[in-house]
Amino acid sequence: MIKDLQAEILRLKKEKNITILAHSYVAEEIQEIADYTGDSFKLSQLAQQDKNDTLIMCGVHFMAETCKILSPEKKVILSSPCAGCPMAEQVSADELIELKKQYPDYTVVAYINTTAALKEHCDVCVTSSSALEICSKIENKNILFIPDCNLGAFVKEKLPEKNVQLINGGCPVHAAVKEQAVLDAKAAHPDALLLVHPECKPEVCKHADYIGSTSGIVDYAVKSDAKEFIIGTEISIAEHLQYICPDKKFYPLSKNLICADMKSTTLVDVYNCLTGNGGLEINMPDEQIKRASVCIDKMLELG
Ligand code: 13P
Ligand code: SF4
Repeated sequence: MIKDLQAEILRLKKEKNITILAHSYVAEEIQEIADYTGDSFKLSQLAQQDKNDTLIMCGVHFMAETCKILSPEKKVILSSPCAGCPMAEQVSADELIELKKQYPDYTVVAYINTTAALKEHCDVCVTSSSALEICSKIENKNILFIPDCNLGAFVKEKLPEKNVQLINGGCPVHAAVKEQAVLDAKAAHPDALLLVHPECKPEVCKHADYIGSTSGIVDYAVKSDAKEFIIGTEISIAEHLQYICPDKKFYPLSKNLICADMKSTTLVDVYNCLTGNGGLEINMPDEQIKRASVCIDKMLELG
């Protein structure tokens, strides 16, 4: 049944010249039918370069918005209309305008997990895989990092030459992991390496053998000679790694590391988008696209 639906999706997307992008956190059966999979930075670059006129984003709302900003002439459809990122909604444009008054000489760096309305007021975007490189290339010493204080703290620690101002925001899924979970996992698997996403709290990250984006974690585990890994990011990454590296062992750092929004996309959602009966088409005023694109273009230029 799943195979039949996948075959029909592959047939339809080829017939209609439609590209499917899938973030690494969505279900494995969706990644299997996608043209591109990966972390948010990789997907945003591929969406820009892709030749097809229609893109289906299997991920969350800000990722589809990012595709639209980069390719305004394309039709961009979010496969699961209800898939948002709670972190992206944490700061409103009005709040940022007020913050900028408090920090007038700061370069505003926004994690890409933000709304287009917020991006209009930011100087440069970063993703988890590009944050360090981009922040190191910003000329200004003063950086106001929004909204993820954990990714921001990671940047602050690695770039002591910068004056990084953080705000109180973050991913509710990653930030919920406690240091005790690390101690328990390490006690249960003493030979395993700990790989974590920088959205985790500093007290979790400090125990890590590697800190990086979802693609970074996958690449590290695939290339490593080690045989056991504790995976500190969304649970699908541990599952995916177990599937592609059957000779190694992967343990989720916490079984609560589940992003319900990323998991809301189903194969039926993708099929309905292809038949024109589902999904959410992303539309934004031209002026908003123009203003929000400034910080995304800057990210692609520096990253
Ligand atoms: P990546 O930048 O690793 O794709 O992360 C996106 C995300 O939403 C992580 O929670
Ligand atoms: Fe947003 Fe966290 Fe889900 Fe990523 S894992 S989409 S940051 S809520």
